Amino acid sequence: FGSTTFEVQRNPSFATLNSEDVNRFKEMLGEKNVIEDEDRLATANIDWMRKYKGFSKLLLQPKSTQEVSEILKYCNSRCLAVVPQGGNTGLVGGSVPVFDEVIINIGSMNNIISLDKVSGILVCEAGCILENLDSFLLNEGFIMPLDLGAKGSCQIGGNVSTNAGGLRYVRYGSLHGSILGLEVVQANGTVLDMLGTIRKDSTGYDLKQLFIGSEGSLGIITKKLLSESKRKLGEVLSAFEFLDNQSMDMVLTYLDGVRNPLPPSVHNFYVLIETTGSNETHDKEKLEAFLLHSMESGLISDGVVAQDINQASSFWRIREGITEALMKAGAVYKYDLSLPVEKMYNLVEKMRIRLGQRAKVLGYGHLGDANLHLNISTPEYDDTVLAQIEPFVYEWTSSHRGSISAEHGLGLMKANKIHYSKSPETVELMISIKKLLDPNRILNPYKVLPHSLVQE
Ligand code: FAD
Ligand code: MLT
Ligand code: ZN
Repeated sequence: FGSTTFEVQRNPSFATLNSEDVNRFKEMLGEKNVIEDEDRLATANIDWMRKYKGFSKLLLQPKSTQEVSEILKYCNSRCLAVVPQGGNTGLVGGSVPVFDEVIINIGSMNNIISLDKVSGILVCEAGCILENLDSFLLNEGFIMPLDLGAKGSCQIGGNVSTNAGGLRYVRYGSLHGSILGLEVVQANGTVLDMLGTIRKDSTGYDLKQLFIGSEGSLGIITKKLLSESKRKLGEVLSAFEFLDNQSMDMVLTYLDGVRNPLPPSVHNFYVLIETTGSNETHDKEKLEAFLLHSMESGLISDGVVAQDINQASSFWRIREGITEALMKAGAVYKYDLSLPVEKMYNLVEKMRIRLGQRAKVLGYGHLGDANLHLNISTPEYDDTVLAQIEPFVYEWTSSHRGSISAEHGLGLMKANKIHYSKSPETVELMISIKKLLDPNRILNPYKVLPHSLVQE
């Protein structure tokens, strides 16, 4: 499936699902939450990019932390492997089974529990869709410190598990800072309550941080995620995104109803800046003055300020639509890199030289965070193209002390590549933690860490 072959064998110590297991799950969750329907399973077995495909025979939809706990307790005792799945919008093959793992989706756990309007602390279940949280908070005069193109489908539990970055990172920073507490179910079913409405706490290890970005390999995030939503005040800059000319072309070619707001002319780069201050008129004046000054000084060659919210969303559609446009164009090799900002685009240019006419090489991403999305588009997957890209892209990133996953995680795609960004000692410690928390390795197997080392 897709282009990539993975040298991973099914772990023989995992049990195979049988009808008795299915009956047990039905007793636990009720019949309608134990899904064996082929169409539903077909969707859940394939990732958003349609690049990774598993063969799970069962999807479970728990409604409470208690049910997640019972499921994991049972799976652990039977040595049945599981894959936690949120909105299935992940881009590294982490959210789908590799073989026959049981899929656990907590999308039914989607209650907003509370919002403290003084502190801005939101408590919700992990299955809440990001966009629903965002609309809820906007209505209350707050803003989610996280936004991304997949907001209509991704779940906050999935966002936390991948330590998603997105479009507001430049202003609000990492989820490591804005998550105040988590509730997590461990592989053996134990519920870890790491919630707390206090802001300051220095009592020992901050264990919740272990689960942020752990991609479902250490536990399942369940009810009552605590996230700190921030008031729409403070610093004015809220997004600083960029795309190159090739990305703009891709969107204009493949997405309906999108147009370039600038007069036709060849621009190598486009930058999308958003400000969210406390005074809209003042904000706009500042932005217009910035634009004028930048044009006069020759820093930019043209620019336009959105006149209303509709125009602003049409600008966002260009930036957010690149991922979708790439999918429509054919096969895509996707890399999500942190690099020193002054070196960032060198890699895109080097890749163009390596690949010549065989592929379109696009660079876009979160400029304010020095996060480059290098995407290589070809009509179909081709191993000779892949051989030109990897390991070069990882080696180049590593030699500049960058990260091979700025925000998407490692998933299946990069589990064996972790050493490009982490020292052997760090990987060893990560494996020890994994073994401690999940001794049977049933949680999201084959992902995040090199399978051969986890199995040792
Ligand atoms: P899934 O894809 O379902 O799962 C992702 C990982 O989390 C898997 O390893 C899964 O096992 C695990 N997981 C899911 N739920 C839980 C849970 N409750 N407990 C434990 N583990 C769990 N990412 C960015 O960082 N920035 C972006 O700007 C961005 N833009 C995107 C735009 C588009 C159009 C798309 C398709 C994706 C984008 N992404 C971006 C990728 C990003 O990782 C996901 O969109 C999102 O964070 C994943 O959430 P999800 O609910 O879909 O999780
Ligand atoms: C983005 O910033 O658009 C997302 O991370 C998705 C992608 O990299 O394509
Ligand atoms: Zn991104």
